Amino acid sequence: MSLPTPIYDLKQFDSVYEPSEDTFLFIDALEADLEYIHSLRPSCILEVGSGSGIVITSLARHFQTQCLFFATDINPVACLCTKQTAYLNNVVVHCTNMNLYCNFKSIFDIILFNPPYVCTEDSEIKPGINRSWAGGRDGRIIIDQFLSQLKLFLSDSGVCYMVALKENKPYEIMATMKVLGFNSCIIKERRILGEHLFVIRFIKEGNLK
Ligand SMILES: C[S@@+](CC[C@H](N)C(=O)[O-])C[C@H]1O[C@@H](n2cnc3c(N)ncnc32)[C@H](O)[C@@H]1O
Repeated sequence: MSLPTPIYDLKQFDSVYEPSEDTFLFIDALEADLEYIHSLRPSCILEVGSGSGIVITSLARHFQTQCLFFATDINPVACLCTKQTAYLNNVVVHCTNMNLYCNFKSIFDIILFNPPYVCTEDSEIKPGINRSWAGGRDGRIIIDQFLSQLKLFLSDSGVCYMVALKENKPYEIMATMKVLGFNSCIIKERRILGEHLFVIRFIKEGNLK
């Protein structure tokens, strides 16, 4: 089973994060975990911070009409870009401009997030392309907001995948998530262009799958 890179075109979207090594590592990690994802028989999949939309579109192409696909981004231009990428690949992704998943009343079987993880001053987290990368102290400001609410939005048998950088202290993140009732493991890691990137998988404790 594979997840080929979807067609995308960022020409009209200059404030949108261009798919980079972290994006492709994330798709590689999901591809390597596809058998597990299938075993969950997901019906609702969400990507938070979808940017260009190629990550959620790669899953939408794979699962086609077996699931509903949702995406959010705090950058409204990224939402337009995600919708275009889905359209170019003949799939439907419902993308909404929002902060993380705050406005949803539903739960999801799979939640994906490649967050803004770069360590910066908190003041650098500001609208536009900055929101793609600026992560504030330890690169953890947005990551910690996202993880603190995960329990509310993930189904009991669901799974969350998140990208993190070594400087974000992935093992500390996993220990914190244990306290919040999640088991986690690193499913992929790669050193690229001076960055050491991880993809972490979180499942709720008691989920035997
Ligand atoms: C590193 S980029 C990843 C984009 C895309 N998912 C990818 O992998 O190429 C992070 C994305 O998260 C979005 N983002 C940042 N903070 C957010 C928030 N609080 N809520 C929703 N989206 C956010 C940014 O606008 C950006 O599109």
